[in-house]
Amino acid sequence: GKGNFRHFMLKEIYEQPAVIGDTLQRYVNPLARTIEMPALPFDFATLPRLTIVACGTAYLAGMVAKYWFEQIARVPVELDIASEFRYREAPLPKGGATMVISQSGETIDTLAALRYAKSQGQKILSVLNVPESTIARESDLVLPTLAGPEIGVASTKAFTTQLTVLACLAISAARARGAIDHKRETELSQALLEVPARAAEVLNHDESIRRIAYDIAETRDVLFLGRGTSYPIALEGALKLKEISYIHAEGYAAGEMKHGPIALIDENVPVVVVAPSDDLFEKTASNLQEVMARGGRVIFLSDHKGAKKLGGKAAITVALPQVDPFVAPILYAIPVQLLAYHAAVAKGTDVDQPRNLAKSVTVE
Ligand code: M6R
Repeated sequence: GKGNFRHFMLKEIYEQPAVIGDTLQRYVNPLARTIEMPALPFDFATLPRLTIVACGTAYLAGMVAKYWFEQIARVPVELDIASEFRYREAPLPKGGATMVISQSGETIDTLAALRYAKSQGQKILSVLNVPESTIARESDLVLPTLAGPEIGVASTKAFTTQLTVLACLAISAARARGAIDHKRETELSQALLEVPARAAEVLNHDESIRRIAYDIAETRDVLFLGRGTSYPIALEGALKLKEISYIHAEGYAAGEMKHGPIALIDENVPVVVVAPSDDLFEKTASNLQEVMARGGRVIFLSDHKGAKKLGGKAAITVALPQVDPFVAPILYAIPVQLLAYHAAVAKGTDVDQPRNLAKSVTVE
């Protein structure tokens, strides 16, 4: 049941510290602070390319993973949504692997993408929340997310546990390819081990996010911006908001603003900026100044350092805990989920069963 929560979605948002912890327990050795993956059906050391395919929120987890695999493990990654990939007739490299990501393990396009990749001789790795699913049966190896059953149509804890598994996998790939040393592996593992505690701290911002969401519920359009791994989080924020509150929202790479979307900015468009203090912070901050100069109402999701650097220039600032930028996308997923949730509640929509949507998309 929903326990004391008004909706499954809220319950599932609040379960994240616990289920991320359960997932970490499966893949991280907490004493050695090293990653322990089951034997893979391919060797990351010699893998020519990893192809990642999924739909919706699972696709956005794959997009975060693309940045991780490329940056820390130096693995070339190709990423696509399953409905395009399945018909694209993409040539896939000999000795390559394809990773599919799915909460349900039943999404028809993702399954078809898996079958295409298999027909091209690829090894199939899947990241799944339902281990006895069709996709599981057709995979060479399943890496389970330990989110437990997800009931709300909007994916929340499945997403952050997918990110958790993918982060572990990226670290183990980096080790296999000699791209990181032992010290860095322990630092990254330690950062991951601290995520459940940091996620609990993020949830303490629920009330202030609820107040921001009341304001957002009155608007017609919302923009979400981010760079690097914050870009898929911006896309995820926009997807969540559209899906459950029916407010039009778009996510953009912050650097893409001046190539078109900045024309939309006026005092009626809230702009949610996802900007942990990482290597790209200054770049995002300057895009944010451009938005503010045009009267945009900026909702700035950052940390204490970032908030200080910006000096209270944004309309609203949410200062999240300071973390290793590597794990930031896992944590910054939470405020965008809460924003969408509270906006939907304010609008009175059916949060757990939004119109026109099914939990598992088993038809094309
Ligand atoms: O079960 P799957 O992870 O394969 O589902 C993929 C998408 O249908 C799903 O993530 C969808 O985008 C969610 N409703 C987003 O909240």
